[in-house]
Amino acid sequence: EKGTYEHYMLKEINEQPAAMRKIIQEYQDEAGELKIDPAIIGQINGADRIYIIAAGTSYHAGLIGKEYFEKWAGLPTEVHVASEFVYNTPLLSENPLFIFISQSGETADSRAVLVEVKKRASKTLTITNVPGSTLSREADETLILHAGPEIAVASTKAYTAQIAVLSILAQVAARELGKESNISLIEELAKVTTAITAVIDDSETIEELVKEYLETTRNAFFIGRTMDYYVGLEGALKLKEISYIQAEGFAGGELKHGTIALIEEGTPVFTLTTQEKVNLNIRGNAQEVEARGANVCTIAMEGLETDNDAYVIPHVHTMLTPLVSVIVFQLISYYAALHRGNDVDKPRNLAKSVTVE
Ligand code: F6R
Repeated sequence: EKGTYEHYMLKEINEQPAAMRKIIQEYQDEAGELKIDPAIIGQINGADRIYIIAAGTSYHAGLIGKEYFEKWAGLPTEVHVASEFVYNTPLLSENPLFIFISQSGETADSRAVLVEVKKRASKTLTITNVPGSTLSREADETLILHAGPEIAVASTKAYTAQIAVLSILAQVAARELGKESNISLIEELAKVTTAITAVIDDSETIEELVKEYLETTRNAFFIGRTMDYYVGLEGALKLKEISYIQAEGFAGGELKHGTIALIEEGTPVFTLTTQEKVNLNIRGNAQEVEARGANVCTIAMEGLETDNDAYVIPHVHTMLTPLVSVIVFQLISYYAALHRGNDVDKPRNLAKSVTVE
């Protein structure tokens, strides 16, 4: 039930702090240590490479997951769009572990890959919000997202749940593989939960950004570097699917290789900067488009902000910033669609789960 919320999407955006708390609780043992089913740890221990298979928003969560597996657990990881992987399978390693990320657990493109890799007797793990879904039943193992039912077509709380569960899985993998880790993930995820709440409580400020940057535009760009680039891809997908504004996410450094030709007077460019390592680079990219007339809306993490930034998110661990920055983009998309009078929960041409290839 929507309860007091006008739309399921807004309700689900608001449910993210509770989903984070639920995940932290579900993946913790009595001693307060992160826990993952030993059978899944066994799968990871025997794997020489992880292949993440997903579509849409779940694919974008997979891109963040790759960072966790590689940077924390030292596990080489590839992320693939399911519909491409089936017909253009890359060279596979000797002992691959396939991880299917799917909110619904019913996406036909992902299932097609699962059917293929099972023929090779590869190990398979599904990360889904729906226990008993097709991808869950057909894979060897399952991790549940615990985000609660997601009704709105545009995925919000499933994305943050996917990233949180991937972070937990990668941390446990790192521990099992004897990798040094300087992060106390449970504490850091608790900080993230507080930060998500702060951004949601600030929805009115974010609605103002929509009035300033998106009210009349036909297109918009999202730029970032490293993890912020991946969040930009998700921000653009969210905006396009419900507001129908043509939106694209780009790696900041790629702009000058072509896309910058699209920048006109007033073109909105959402610039995300949460990564100190590339903060100056992305700010340089923002200046390049601003000099060509773009209406730059910079969203920075506390500690990296400047006076000209449009919005500042609270400080969280560098590897966990997508969990907080994406909330800004979810709310921007929500209000942009609302102001245009669109059907926020049921955008045109889209279905909640895509069960055809
Ligand atoms: C975007 C969206 C879609 C889904 C995609 C995969 O908001 O909802 O892009 O993410 O169709 O769906 P699942 O995760 O159910 O496999």
